[in-house]
Amino acid sequence: MSDKPRIFLTRELPPQTMDMLRERAVLTMNHEDRYLSKQEIIQGVQGVDGLLCLLTDSIDDDILAANPGLKVVANFAVGFNNIDVAAATARKIPVTNTPGVLTETTADMAFALLLDIARRVAEGDRFVRTRAWQGWGPLQFLGADVSHSTLGLIGLGRIGKAMIPRARGFSMRVLYWNRTRLTPEEENELQVTYCELDELLQQSDFVSLHVAQNDDTRHLLGAREFALMKPQALLVNTARGPIVDEKALVVALQNGEIAGAGLDVYEQEPALEPELYEMDNVVVAPHLGSGTIGTRTKMGNMAAENCLAACLGQRPPNLVNPQIYD
Ligand code: GLV
Repeated sequence: MSDKPRIFLTRELPPQTMDMLRERAVLTMNHEDRYLSKQEIIQGVQGVDGLLCLLTDSIDDDILAANPGLKVVANFAVGFNNIDVAAATARKIPVTNTPGVLTETTADMAFALLLDIARRVAEGDRFVRTRAWQGWGPLQFLGADVSHSTLGLIGLGRIGKAMIPRARGFSMRVLYWNRTRLTPEEENELQVTYCELDELLQQSDFVSLHVAQNDDTRHLLGAREFALMKPQALLVNTARGPIVDEKALVVALQNGEIAGAGLDVYEQEPALEPELYEMDNVVVAPHLGSGTIGTRTKMGNMAAENCLAACLGQRPPNLVNPQIYD
């Protein structure tokens, strides 16, 4: 029998990662291009050392309990709200994620949505394709200026911070709200202004979300918050769907409390609140934030290294529950 670690992978990853895993592990995996059911994951983890999973896999205590020998849950994502980390910690199972490698790529996506929704690119594209366009017109598809506007960043972790130089390139004023405030020196260096959440919502032309999903951030933006925003404000969400009360967002858009939204994530992916499919002032992307060839390859390699290390009894580099080693 091979002394290589046995790893169960819930979906095919980029080719370089697949090569690495095939070389350094005994790999079992889902070969189909679809999510696995909980039961299938329970079956998959039988007898393996490591589970390499995706943000779409909900890893709960039943799955962890299905294999008492499981040595790691390695997520192919920076967010890990899909994993019951407390349950894994109680079982002394390391949980890992892929921080850092997707920062710039995700900030690019947030900016792409911001520009798109401001300048009505997707809406214009849909219109041109109807073949109804009769030529340039002075009042056609007028949008909002990005340059010299005010961007409100909710959350100033790695991705939130990566928004700052992008915003600077468009001469935007940047406000931020974060759980912990930066030091005055950092604020000065980054040229950002701290605001309480309500004030940020009142002042921003664009609001972009960059907080993690947890109990504190669920529905951080709901009816009350949308009512505070400017009627011309645009919301960008590349973080996690449940941070926004999606039903309240629909109502705010319908009532003109805010002007539009660029969304990459949803409360019940892959389903959207039905009205969102029909709204022209909303750009909807299919959770593409980290979706470049280079970044997905780096994420795959990082998740694989995390998984392999823990399977071999080493402390994995990107632990989210370091307390298990205390
Ligand atoms: C993507 O959504 C991630 O968390 O990596």
